[in-house]
Amino acid sequence: MRQLRPDVYEVGAIDWDRRLFDELIPLPDGTSYNAYLIKGSEKIALLDTVDPTKTDVLVGNLVSAGIDHLDYIVAHHGEQDHSGSIPDVLTIYPDAKVVVNQKCKDLLVSHLHIEEDRFLVITDGQTLSLGNKTLRFMDIPWVHWPETFATYLVEDRILFPCDMFGSHLATSSLFVDDWPTVERAAKRYYAEIMMPFRSYIRKHLARFAGIQIELIAPSHGPVYDKPGLIMDVYADWSSDRVKNEVVLAFVSMHNSTRRMVSHLIEVLMDLGITVRPFNLSRTDIGELAMALVDAATLVLATPTVLVGPHPLAAYAATLANALRPKTRFASIVCSYGWGGKAIEQLQGLMGNLKVELIDPVLVKGLPRDEDYLALDRMAQQILDKHKQAGIVQ
Ligand code: FEO
Repeated sequence: MRQLRPDVYEVGAIDWDRRLFDELIPLPDGTSYNAYLIKGSEKIALLDTVDPTKTDVLVGNLVSAGIDHLDYIVAHHGEQDHSGSIPDVLTIYPDAKVVVNQKCKDLLVSHLHIEEDRFLVITDGQTLSLGNKTLRFMDIPWVHWPETFATYLVEDRILFPCDMFGSHLATSSLFVDDWPTVERAAKRYYAEIMMPFRSYIRKHLARFAGIQIELIAPSHGPVYDKPGLIMDVYADWSSDRVKNEVVLAFVSMHNSTRRMVSHLIEVLMDLGITVRPFNLSRTDIGELAMALVDAATLVLATPTVLVGPHPLAAYAATLANALRPKTRFASIVCSYGWGGKAIEQLQGLMGNLKVELIDPVLVKGLPRDEDYLALDRMAQQILDKHKQAGIVQ
């Protein structure tokens, strides 16, 4: 149990060893499931629980803190990494009520089979007094799922924003003590979890700007005791500003695509464009997602496999389509042996992206001189588009 402020504690669990989240997201630095205990003069509230694999840690922390009675369990989010221990905590504390908005209640009933009479349903703006401490609730939908809400601890000026501002980072530091490391982890987290909901993030940031915040205590990663740092980078990431960068996600089987990728990298560099290549048979998709936060252009490069794109390229396209980065331009480099529809299929997989398509390059077999010239034209077109959009002078 670690203290944030008098009578405000972190009682969750650090998961040093976890390396995959949702069976999808790599966790190179582990993660934490933060739960916060607030002891008011009259009532005690637990804000969120932990992943069910770490219930014993949470319960151990509560027991060692001498908590023999709990009035409220505030569940900001239905996802099980925060809600999964609620049934066990309710068993231990039979008088506790689960404080939720209506959407979160519906999710907890369906996902965890929590009984109807265990809930206290609150609405946006409502307050709940713990005596000398007051919880104010703010709906902040889509900071991962539609039901998410935040709690503001009025007297201590602490914002508990659920997954928003989080980072998958296992660390023994309660507060941010190494901002560059935390910023990188938070950016990866933003890319994987928040990026599809950029417009909501901007609205929530605007709302948070209207309240005084001394600490931001997210549900993953360390607590921010300089809230401006994370709020500023969130404002940048969620803005419409893009950088003079090309994310080049590629896979190659017999070096045709590889040769074109190598050439394109050289030409883009010569034009002063930052290139971020990702070999899809090697890369960590979190790194790819992170690069998509800022890049103006995405280029996918793939050989043809059984008339379509290589499955790894299809995966990258599907991922980009789901994450909906603010990327403005996209193109495709493709090689084939005897035919196929890889380009059309990749374009079909990226229908969510609001991008302007730059002419693709399609090559039969090993690239020839005219194919390298086509790649030169692609690179020039990318630069021209970046200039026209004011991304580069
Ligand atoms: Fe950390 Fe969306 O749960």
